[in-house]
Amino acid sequence: MRLGIEMGMTLIDTAQMYAEGGAEEVVGDAIATSQVLYNLEQRGIEFDVLPWSQQQRLPTMAYCPIGQGGKMLANALLKQVAARHDVTPAQVALAWILRQDSVIAIPKAVRPEHVRLNAQAALLQLEAGDLEALDQAFRAPQHKQRLAMV
Ligand SMILES: NC(=O)c1ccc[n+]([C@@H]2O[C@H](COP(=O)([O-])OP(=O)(O)OC[C@H]3O[C@@H](n4cnc5c(N)ncnc54)[C@H](OP(=O)(O)O)[C@@H]3O)[C@@H](O)[C@H]2O)c1
Repeated sequence: MRLGIEMGMTLIDTAQMYAEGGAEEVVGDAIATSQVLYNLEQRGIEFDVLPWSQQQRLPTMAYCPIGQGGKMLANALLKQVAARHDVTPAQVALAWILRQDSVIAIPKAVRPEHVRLNAQAALLQLEAGDLEALDQAFRAPQHKQRLAMV
């Protein structure tokens, strides 16, 4: 892996990255971030990849953070939390990811209104009650899961 990085490799296969004894020795100085699919519906990384990354002080970058604008945003509890804060479900989904210091989100938005809303989501502070409601609607993983990807 070190040789690959020295040769200019910028993307590393996740299976190798998180394998037992895999990247620990080079993570600190050579890898800027771990870009993984992470959103309310896809929480698998919380079981192992995320704690491992935090232990290595490796920031996590969540792709597809709003579930590609799909059915996740229609969830009733998510809508309730959004209504409580007078924001949109997508903004709650982003604030939920940003609740953790070491995790950033890269929502894709073409529509200017979406760009504005997504930027504003960084200011939204979810409360303990919100997080509990979201945990009810979108369960945290109880066992190791195959890394989700699109
Ligand atoms: N590393 C990887 O393997 C990998 C894989 C997939 C994606 N990515 C990256 O991750 C980023 C995002 O992924 P993604 O586009 O698949 O999923 P996403 O960001 O979860 O969803 C994007 C969709 O959500 C809509 N949207 C954006 N903001 C919204 C808002 N505030 N309210 C409602 N809908 C909203 C967008 O609509 P509009 O565009 O019409 O505004 C678009 O249809 C991209 O930059 C992509 O390059 C990386």
